[in-house]
Formats: sequence, C-alpha cells, structure tokens
Amino acid sequence: MKDRRKLHIGMSLAPTWLNGDAWRRADSAAEGLFSGDYYVDIAKRAEAVHLDFVFRPDALFLPVEALETGPGFASLDPTVLLAAIARETSHIGLLSTASTAFLPPYVVARQIQSLHWLSNGRAGWNIVTALAGHENFGLEAMPSSEARYERAAEFTEVVRLLWESFPNRALKIDRASGRYADSALVRPVDHAGRHLNVRGPLNLPAFDKVPIPLVQAGASPAGRDFAASVADAVFASTPDRDAALELRQDLRLRAERHGRAAGDIRLLPGLSLYLADTRAQARDLFAATHARTDRAAVLVAIGEALGIDLLRWPVNRPLTMRDLPASPPERPRSRTHAALLRRLVARDAPTLDDLLRRPEGVGSAHWQIVGTVADAVAEIADWAAAGAIDGFIATPGGSVGSMHLALGALVPRLAEAGLFRERYAGATFAGHLDE
Ligand SMILES: Cc1cc2nc3c(=O)[nH]c(=O)nc-3n(C[C@H](O)[C@H](O)[C@H](O)COP(=O)(O)O)c2cc1C
Repeated sequence: MKDRRKLHIGMSLAPTWLNGDAWRRADSAAEGLFSGDYYVDIAKRAEAVHLDFVFRPDALFLPVEALETGPGFASLDPTVLLAAIARETSHIGLLSTASTAFLPPYVVARQIQSLHWLSNGRAGWNIVTALAGHENFGLEAMPSSEARYERAAEFTEVVRLLWESFPNRALKIDRASGRYADSALVRPVDHAGRHLNVRGPLNLPAFDKVPIPLVQAGASPAGRDFAASVADAVFASTPDRDAALELRQDLRLRAERHGRAAGDIRLLPGLSLYLADTRAQARDLFAATHARTDRAAVLVAIGEALGIDLLRWPVNRPLTMRDLPASPPERPRSRTHAALLRRLVARDAPTLDDLLRRPEGVGSAHWQIVGTVADAVAEIADWAAAGAIDGFIATPGGSVGSMHLALGALVPRLAEAGLFRERYAGATFAGHLDE
C-alpha cells in the first residue's frame, strides 16, 4: 500500500457461500436463510475479527426460473435485516443497499438515518443505480446507465440535504423551560430538480456524531465520475490486479478533479474466496459448486453483453475482437461487466470453456482466489503492495466451511501480517474507514 494504511475489509451477507450447488451440502443451514439468526451469527463472527463492516447487496426483482436451482435473488430487505443485526453487535459497520432508480429519496434518507440511530453511528449506504426491476415500480423501461447516474447524483444530493434538514443541534430537550426543539433550525430542503421534487424536512433528527459513509457500485465512466464526486468507497468488480490498479488510480484522479483528496475514495473489490486446507480440495470445492452450471444460460448472458450469439459459436474456436461487433451493445445491463468481458476477449482470445472458467464469465467478474488460506494471504498482500486496493469485500463461495475459513482464519492471518487491524480503535463505521 502506498500510504501504508491497513486494509479495510467488509463481509458480504449475500449468501455467496450457498451459490451453485453449495446450498445442497448437509451443513449449509439453507433453511435458515430468511431468519435473522442466520445473519447475526455471521455478523458476530465478522465483528470478532474486527472487520470494518458487513454488507448486504440488494436487488428489487426476482428471476423466477433461477429459483429451481438456488435461492438466487430471494432475500430479506437489507436495511431491516441490518437493523436486527445492529442490536446484536456493537462495533462493526452496517452497509445497506438502496437503489436510486426506484425508491423515493425521502424513504431512503429516513431508513438509513434510522439504521444510524439504531446502531449508534454504524450505518452506511451503498448507492446503486440497479440492474433491473423497473416493472415493479411502474416504469416502462429501464432508463439508460447515464440517465440512472444523472438521477443518482440528484438523489444523493437530496438525501444529504434531508439528513441536514433536521440537525441534531435543534434538539433542546429542556425540561425546565419546556422547549423540546428549536424549530427554526429545522428547515425544508425545497428541492425542485430534473428528476425529483422534495420539500422536506426529514421527520427524523440526524444522529450527528459521525457521518454516514457512502459506497457506490458501477464502474462505467459515468459511474466512476459519480463515485469520485461523493463516495467514500467503491465496491468493484476487478477480476485481475491490473483492472484494480487502473480503476483505483482513475478514481483517485477523478476525486481530485472533484476537489477531494485522492485518499478520500477507497477501492474495495469483491473477493470471491474458495478456501480449503489444500489447493486440491479448494479446486474440488470450486468444481463441485459449479457442476450444474447452466452452460447455455451463462453463454446467453455473456453473448448479450458482448453483442454476439455464443450458443452457435464453435466450442474450440477462440473469440477475438474481430468477431465482436465494432460498437458494443447500446444498453447492456451493466457497462462495467460488458467492458470487463471485452477486455478479456482482447487480451486472452478465450474459447467458450475459457469464458466459463473466468470470473468475468461466471461469478460477477470478481477477483477470485481458489486455494489455501496461505495462498489468499499472499495474493492479497501482493495486490496491496502494488497499490491496487484499499481493502476488499469478501464474497466467500463453495461452502459454509469456506466462509468460516475466510473469517476465522484468513482475516486473523492478515492481521498477523500487519495488513489488517488487530482490534477496533472505535465503534463507528466512518471511524473504521478513516483509520
Ligand atoms: C460490483 C458491483 C456491485 C453491484 N451491486 C448491485 C446491487 O447490489 N444492487 C443493484 O441493484 N445493482 C448493483 N450493481 C449495479 C450498479 O449499481 C449499476 O446499476 C450497474 O453496474 C450499471 O452501472 P455501470 O454502467 O456503471 O456498470 C452493482 C454493480 C457492480 C459493478
């Protein structure tokens, strides 16, 4: 790490360790997936090793066919879940996800501020512009990525204004005089913009001891610029070290252009960890998890992002840039993922089997380590030393055992290696990120 800070580590509570066929393992406890206890157990394990935060990604739609083979996107509401975890933990940050594409900013501002109160300053907001789900919110089509980011910028500004509209200092609670609050300090926001009209003020005072960290996901040029203007951290898909280096450098530069310090923005890639006692066992774990992967469905999704029909593509013929349409599809679900796939084609000329093995093809394009805890420590240390990351968000895969190794073995080894904190210095999310 160039500035020699410790890594910041988050734990995703999306049950990636139940992905593929992993939920079918005898010890998966898959029946508990919609219970609070299931996640409280993981959050407590994460807090025991001093992680910066637990994190719940979210989607507001349900691909029904996928339910045949796994839980997919079925999930509890992230902020409600984190409120339950707040009462069972004391130090760890609680990062919720709320979409700026569909929800009203007044509701989002209130929910996240409520979580901040209930957790004594541990809430964070992961700002997403969403991938799908417009049908559930009365929209005729999914707005383009650019339009979604334009709305996201206005939305975020409104949420911040709402948080400021009822400042904590307005509370007087003066029993002697009978004055509860100085109402002159509670101000409407009177926002009338291109996408949103919100009067305010918020009907909840700010918990003002620490700010609420903002995290963003989505790395198209519009996404990077939006992140650079407001985000304290970026949740990213960086399947290799060069991708992370490029993104981190670019975000830091863009932050400076927005008048912020380069270090104000932290790159935290998702890290998919298939961990076992030996490399062979880890490889078996990965293979067993993905044994039933629906090859055709994955090829259709990759083909859509690249603008090519891969179901008809000859199995052993390498795919090159010459085979792709000159201009990429106008509206991929995620420009970030489409760009990463094009990058892979340009660099590796992959066959279909290569595509199906790579994290860009399966696995959300996240950084992926299949190996032992020692392998993971070495690779994380290498990425950190190269200045490619400020930390990571663990998305362990394969089994509950792999998830427990990530928290119970890998994180303590990173602390022993001096890469991660050995104890909490404070009990707020913003405080952890500033260490
Ligand atoms: C690493 C990563 C994580 C994301 N997580 C979510 C999520 O939890 N929920 C969601 O609705 N969208 C999520 N998205 C989608 C982004 O918010 C964004 O809408 C999408 O990537 C399109 O923006 P882009 O063109 O900048 O990629 C994620 C995107 C990335 C790259």
